[in-house]
Amino acid sequence: MRAQGNAMDYVALPKIELHAHLTGSVSRRTLHEIWLRKKEAGETDLEDPLVVMPEGKHDYNLKTFFPLFSSYIYNLLTDEESIRHAVTSVLDEFLADGVVYLELRTTPRATGCLSAEAYVRVLLDAMGAWESHYGGDDAPLHARLILSVDRRHDLATAESILALAARLRSEGHQQQRVVGLDLCGDPTARPDGGVALFTPVLGAAARDPHGLGLTVHFAEAEASGSRAELDTLLGWRPGRLGHVIWVREDEEARREIARRGLCLELCLSCNVQAGMVRGGFEGHHFGYWRGVDGPRLSLGTDDVGVFGSPLSNEYRLVAQHFKLDRDQICALAQQAIDSIFGGEAEKQRLRDIMWT
Ligand code: IMP
Ligand code: ZN
Repeated sequence: MRAQGNAMDYVALPKIELHAHLTGSVSRRTLHEIWLRKKEAGETDLEDPLVVMPEGKHDYNLKTFFPLFSSYIYNLLTDEESIRHAVTSVLDEFLADGVVYLELRTTPRATGCLSAEAYVRVLLDAMGAWESHYGGDDAPLHARLILSVDRRHDLATAESILALAARLRSEGHQQQRVVGLDLCGDPTARPDGGVALFTPVLGAAARDPHGLGLTVHFAEAEASGSRAELDTLLGWRPGRLGHVIWVREDEEARREIARRGLCLELCLSCNVQAGMVRGGFEGHHFGYWRGVDGPRLSLGTDDVGVFGSPLSNEYRLVAQHFKLDRDQICALAQQAIDSIFGGEAEKQRLRDIMWT
């Protein structure tokens, strides 16, 4: 890793990104380019993304964040060209930030031009083309895809997402890029353990015959942090938990999470800027979990297009606010290796890159 004087070069640090929502990762600049092309072609009446989401505005909270997608960005990213442009730019930006392995996640959705399945196939094709451009297996960034079930989905939609993941994986090498499922979406939907609705699907994803990786958003908000919900989610045997914020008062829940040795995907800037944690960066639960034996920690950006902090900056913030030295930062970056969903060969590639 390159050093700059005594300072660390956080971009040069090889990094693993396991918690990035595709649509939330598209930069405003890219959204603007897509909008401009459509505007000039007379294909959109939407307002300019740079007006709707001005550069520097990152203070979205749980109330304003979700409608941004459903009432704006999804209406812009509807056709194959726009979706290819978006995912290609997202990959370019993660590469430029020194990410060597990326698990993007996205919610399969019908767009008006494309079915939910066609949307996912466009993404896979664009990701394959991007990797080929950079030398295939020799590409400096390897990207995989996780399909998200949204808490607002019904059971039939969740079933169709699992079936799609299974179908794609059975089609051969290129489509094996789909490595897992996620549960995401507005944490105030289906409170008090209502996500148990998805047990027939998400409870099956990690087991035979599917054997998919499973990651779930847990306790982002008080409403989604109940003991009942944790018990349901852990019953699905996830390999990773996203956020894990509202368990401070529940020691038993914290002990159970630690005992299972799960990977915790922690997204500092998103949590702080959206007001999901108290006490700013210093008060972030990264400080708690780093002192607990058992869990592996993985820093993620969640939605870099919205919150504006690339992964390199997340490492810089952690070093600054929790006083981590260079060796501790490198060790933190390596913790995620064994929790990726991309298989043994990929883990070995990461060890070769990161254990220097
Ligand atoms: P997409 O799945 O690629 O369309 O990315 C955007 C979607 O990801 C949003 O509509 C949300 O459902 C989900 N998402 C993004 N960030 C979060 C988060 O922090 N918590 C829960 N869901 C999220
Ligand atoms: Zn998330």
